[in-house]
Amino acid sequence: MATNTASADRYSRGAVILHWLIAVLIVLNYAAAWVAEDMPKEAKMQVMGNHKAIGITILLLTVLRIVWRLMHKAPPLVETLKAWEAALARVTHLALYFLMLAVPVAGWGLHSASSQGAPVGMFGLFGFPALPVGSDKPTIGMFHELHEVFATLMLVLVVVHVAAALKHHFKDKDGTLRRMVPWLP
Ligand code: HEM
Ligand code: HEM
Repeated sequence: MATNTASADRYSRGAVILHWLIAVLIVLNYAAAWVAEDMPKEAKMQVMGNHKAIGITILLLTVLRIVWRLMHKAPPLVETLKAWEAALARVTHLALYFLMLAVPVAGWGLHSASSQGAPVGMFGLFGFPALPVGSDKPTIGMFHELHEVFATLMLVLVVVHVAAALKHHFKDKDGTLRRMVPWLP
């Protein structure tokens, strides 16, 4: 079982819950953006409304996750990792944390600029304030570009990250996946 603090070989319960909750929401948000593309205007607005609310939720959960991570040490890396593998894992994780903030912040900027400061509707429950940015074309274009580029980069890193996790589980059989999936035998 995972505990509240990281044990010798597992992440803490909070880290595991936040990892999987955020991962599911990120997958949902890519799916929403892709299916919305071919939808008629009305349905598109609705799906993109959910995309924005899920995105802001990801942003808030990521801030919580980073605070949690700073308060709870991660378990030491698997001993059999080569030095380059350990370095690559650290750099990838750091880049993922950066992008988990940068993608939604750029989306938030895009919404704020293109809606002239209207709050982001949070599932009809409340409005999340807009960022104080301009509404001119170059600003909208900049946030659009950033959101797209960061989202593409994150997708590439997630694919690499998942491939690495599966390689360690099925090929190396070194217990890496169990660190984040404590219910595995
Ligand atoms: C981790 C969270 C998020 C992910 C993974 C994500 C991903 C994406 C992707 C892949 C697209 C399609 C890119 C394109 O081809 O233009 C997109 C579009 C969009 N996203 Fe996000 N997004 C996230 C968060 C947000 C947030 C928080 C907002 C606003 C509050 C937002 C607003 C938008 C908007 C308005 C578009 C449409 C852009 C257009 O007009 O083409 N996104 N998002
Ligand atoms: C959108 C999807 C995902 C994101 C953004 C993500 C992000 C991250 C981050 C940032 C860490 C570093 C944790 C830390 O040390 O603080 C991590 C660890 C980990 N993730 Fe993911 N992850 C995703 C999906 C997955 C999936 C689908 C798997 C499994 C197939 C997975 C397996 C793992 C494992 C095993 C670790 C621990 C690595 C270690 O031992 O150091 N992740 N993930």
